[in-house]
Amino acid sequence: VPLTLPPAGTAATVGVVGAGQLARMMHQAAIDLGVELVVLAERPDDPAVRAGCRALIGRPDDPEALDRLAEVSGIVTLDHELVPAAHLEALAAAGHRVRPSAAALVHAQDKWAAWERFEAAGLPVPRSLLLPPGADPEPAADRLGLPLVLKLRTGGYDGRGVEVAADIEAARRVLAAWAGREVVAQEWVDMEFELAVVGARRPAGEAVFYPLVLTTQIDGMCRELVTPAPVADPVGRRALEVAGAVAEAVGAVGAVTTELFATRSGAVLVNEIALRPHNSGHATIEAATASQFHNHLRAVLDWPLGSTDLIVPAAAMVNVVGDAAGSDPAGRLPRALEVAGASVHLYGKAPAPGRKLGHVTATGPDVASALATARAAAAALNADPASSG
Ligand SMILES: Nc1ncnc2c1ncn2[C@@H]1O[C@H](COP(=O)(O)OP(=O)(O)OP(=O)(O)O)[C@@H](O)[C@H]1O
Ligand SMILES: [Mg+2]
Repeated sequence: VPLTLPPAGTAATVGVVGAGQLARMMHQAAIDLGVELVVLAERPDDPAVRAGCRALIGRPDDPEALDRLAEVSGIVTLDHELVPAAHLEALAAAGHRVRPSAAALVHAQDKWAAWERFEAAGLPVPRSLLLPPGADPEPAADRLGLPLVLKLRTGGYDGRGVEVAADIEAARRVLAAWAGREVVAQEWVDMEFELAVVGARRPAGEAVFYPLVLTTQIDGMCRELVTPAPVADPVGRRALEVAGAVAEAVGAVGAVTTELFATRSGAVLVNEIALRPHNSGHATIEAATASQFHNHLRAVLDWPLGSTDLIVPAAAMVNVVGDAAGSDPAGRLPRALEVAGASVHLYGKAPAPGRKLGHVTATGPDVASALATARAAAAALNADPASSG
């Protein structure tokens, strides 16, 4: 039986596939809006469940578990992309509202499908080729040059599944380690910086976007950001234009983030998109009237979207990432709380090396001072000063 969409102001239940930190922060926004969240959690100690969100326990690739979630939800949305598109299509065919749709989500799951869509829409992208399993990288390197960037077509995240090969032998070693997988070979972009545009889009296409974010990656994982990005206007304007076209081209519904490369020659290239709240948007919690989590819920519920204007001159965020020893930043929380002006977020996750365990946001009169504050608190949370980014 198709569920009717609750208009703004009536009780609504949103089901979220996954219960990580994004679902946990969605839960905080849901409380503000009087929306009830139900998460499909793999484990009873997942971050959103530990925050008290109502939960069903089940795997994101189990059709029966997804059915149970959809049965108690007016809308089904996502904390991550690890949901088979066919399962989401089956839910939609059974009359459930799934936002984003499986057809849109494929652009966040499949780097080649995304690249082809961006290219077909006339959007600027790094030159890329699809390598079938067992392919030799030499013809791709001949066309795209060295170093050659190799990316798993599906299943990569936080830089896992992205390798930069300096020469053909290195490229062969990467492909051998990924035997049997399809790989996107891409030109190495000599970039000046990386940008992200975070926004939200309603089912009929109305969209809002936050001011531009400048991101810093370490080992392929987002480590720091500042907003508004201190970039020259032609580049900044182009980035926002491109991100608007990307959201449109993929049919995004809900939060949508476009990751962009700004090249040394002043071009803006589309790297990838996420169709859910994104690490690049975490500072919107403190820096904007409506956070990306509020706007994600408002967009999937087809409710009026909130203002994306910053309510402060500038903001910065620094991730708290698990160190090699697996020590727990929560034990160092008092030191971080000494840093005036820093907003500390811990996700309640078990520490593991390289795992995102929390983040710190600071606002300020300019991005440099906000970043200094956020770095100071993140450094206090990180045992190893070298890992504070
Ligand atoms: N063509 C390229 N040239 C240079 N650097 C690149 C290129 N592609 C990716 N990178 C670097 O690797 C990082 C990770 O790549 P990408 O975003 O494609 O992977 P991911 O693991 O899916 O991302 P995420 O960390 O956002 O989950 C980028 O943010 C960028 O720093
Ligand atoms: Mg990325």
